[in-house]
Amino acid sequence: MKAIEIENLSFDYPDGRPALRNVSLQIAHGEAVGIIGPNGAGKSTLLLHCNGLLSGQGIVKVFDELLTPKTAQQIRRRVGLVFQDPDDQLFMPRVFDDVAFGLLCQQKPMDLVEERVAQALAQVGLEGFESRLTHHLSIGEKKRVAIATVLALDCDILLLDEPTASLDPRMRRHFIELLKTLPQTKLIAAHDLEMVACLCSRVCLLDEGRVVICGRTDELLTQRELLERHGLEVPASLTLQMTEGADLSIA
Ligand SMILES: Nc1ncnc2c1ncn2[C@@H]1O[C@H](COP(=O)(O)OP(=O)(O)OP(=O)(O)O)[C@@H](O)[C@H]1O
Ligand SMILES: [Mg+2]
Repeated sequence: MKAIEIENLSFDYPDGRPALRNVSLQIAHGEAVGIIGPNGAGKSTLLLHCNGLLSGQGIVKVFDELLTPKTAQQIRRRVGLVFQDPDDQLFMPRVFDDVAFGLLCQQKPMDLVEERVAQALAQVGLEGFESRLTHHLSIGEKKRVAIATVLALDCDILLLDEPTASLDPRMRRHFIELLKTLPQTKLIAAHDLEMVACLCSRVCLLDEGRVVICGRTDELLTQRELLERHGLEVPASLTLQMTEGADLSIA
C-alpha cells in the first residue's frame, strides 16, 4: 500500500517565488525515504504539502485519500510533522501542554495523556521536563520537545524536517536508533546525510523545486559528482567504505 503519492505537484509562495515544480514521488507504507538537496531546494515546502499545511497544484494522496481542504484535518491525525524550526511547532507555555496538545484535541483521557507525554519525553531524553517553560529551553531541548509532540501521537506517517539539527552527538545517535525501531512510514528532509544513510532505503534529491533523481540510498549517496553539483557531499562513512573497497550496503 502507498502511504504517500505525489503527482505533478507545483507550488509558488504568495510572493510569487516558485518552490516546487512538477514533483512526483511515491512512498510505500513502512518505507523510510530521505529528501535531500541544497538550501532552498524545496524540502520543507514538500513536507508541508504532505499534511495539507500548504497546497499547490497537483495531486497529493495519503493512504489513497486525496488531500483537500476538506480531508486535511482527518488526514493530519495520521501524519505527524516535526517542523524544521521548533519555534514553529511549540506554542504553549509549558512543555507538558505542547506534548499533550494533540492528544487532548483527540479527547483522550487525562491518565492516558499523562502516560503518553511522559513516555514521549523519555524517548527524547527529557524525563521530568513536563513543567519546564518551553521558551526557557535550549534550542536542542526545544527540538527534542518538538519531536516528542509527534511521538506522543500514534501517527502512521512521520514527516521529519531536519530532525537531528541542533541535537548533541549523543542525543543524535540515540534518536537515530529510536527512529530505526519505529515502524511508521518516514519522510525525512535532511542535510545530515549520515543519518539518511542509516535510516533510509531510498532518497530523493531535490534542487530548485524539482526532483533531480530518486534512487537507492547506497547507489545515490555515493555519487560524488552528482552530490557536489547540488551542494552536497558523500557522507564520510560511505567515503570510508568506498576507499576501503568494502561492501557499499548500509547497515
Ligand atoms: N514563506 C515563504 N515565502 C516566500 N518564499 C518562501 C517561503 N518559505 C520558503 N520560501 C522559498 O521557497 C524555496 C524553498 O524553501 P524551503 O524552505 O522549502 O527549502 P529547503 O530545501 O527546506 O531549504 P533548507 O535546506 O534551507 O531548509 C526557497 O527559495 C525559499 O526562499
Ligand atoms: Mg528546510
